Amino acid sequence: MRLETERLAMRPVDTADLDAIASFMSDPEVCRYLGDGKPRTRDRVARSVAFARRMWAERGFGPFAIERKGLSGGAGTENVFVGVCLLLPIARSGTDPADFEARGPEIEFGYWLARGAWGHGYATEAARAVLAWAVAGDGARQERVIAVTNPANEASKRVLEKVGMRLVGQTDAYYDAVTTLYEIGL
Ligand SMILES: CC(C)(COP(=O)(O)OP(=O)(O)OC[C@H]1O[C@@H](n2cnc3c(N)ncnc32)[C@H](O)[C@@H]1OP(=O)(O)O)[C@@H](O)C(=O)NCCC(=O)NCCS
Repeated sequence: MRLETERLAMRPVDTADLDAIASFMSDPEVCRYLGDGKPRTRDRVARSVAFARRMWAERGFGPFAIERKGLSGGAGTENVFVGVCLLLPIARSGTDPADFEARGPEIEFGYWLARGAWGHGYATEAARAVLAWAVAGDGARQERVIAVTNPANEASKRVLEKVGMRLVGQTDAYYDAVTTLYEIGL
C-alpha cells in the first residue's frame, strides 16, 4: 500500500519506524495538545506501532508513515521520515486510550509531524490523500471518519478545515477531555 502526492509518500507504519516516531514524540512541543500533553514514552510509542501493524494486518487500513520524497538524481535521493497520519479506532471517554482493544467503533483521523517538518503544508497534503483513500477511494471504505483536537490547537483545526472536514462542535465523548469534533463521510 502506497499513496503519493507531489512531495510526499505514505505507506503503512512499520516496526522499523519506532526509533523515528519515538524520537519526535519525545518532543514536548509535538505532544503539547495531545492527550495529557506529556511527551510519549518509547514504550507507549512501541505499543502504538504494534497496534498499527495489527490494524493493517486485520482490517486492511491503519496509520501511515509520511515521508518527504527524495529529489530525483544526485544528492538527497533518500525519502525522509516526517511523521504519521493516523487512521485507527478512537478512545471513548471512560476507556483507557492505551487499551487498544477497548477502542472504537468510530475511526479517528489525525497527524503527528516532527517539529522540523511543520509549516510546509505537509499535514494538509498528507491528510487530503489519506482521507480520499480512506473514505471515497478504494482504501479503507469508511462511511464516516472523525477527528478530534484540543480546542486550542489552531494549526490542527486549520488543517482539518482545509481538507474539508465538517465542524461538529465541542464534545466530551472522547479521551476524557473536551475536544473539538470534526467529521467527513460519504
Ligand atoms: C498540527 C500539525 C500536524 C500541522 O502540520 P503542518 O504541516 O505545519 O500543517 P500545514 O502546514 O499543512 O497547515 C497548518 C495551517 O495552520 C496554520 N497555523 C499554524 N499555526 C497556527 C496558529 N498558531 N494559529 C492559527 N493558524 C495556525 C498555518 O498557517 C496553516 O494554515 P494556512 O495554510 O492557511 O496558512 C503539526 O503542527 C503537528 O504535528 N503538531 C503536533 C501534533 C498535533 O498536535 N497533531 C494534531 C493532533 S489533533
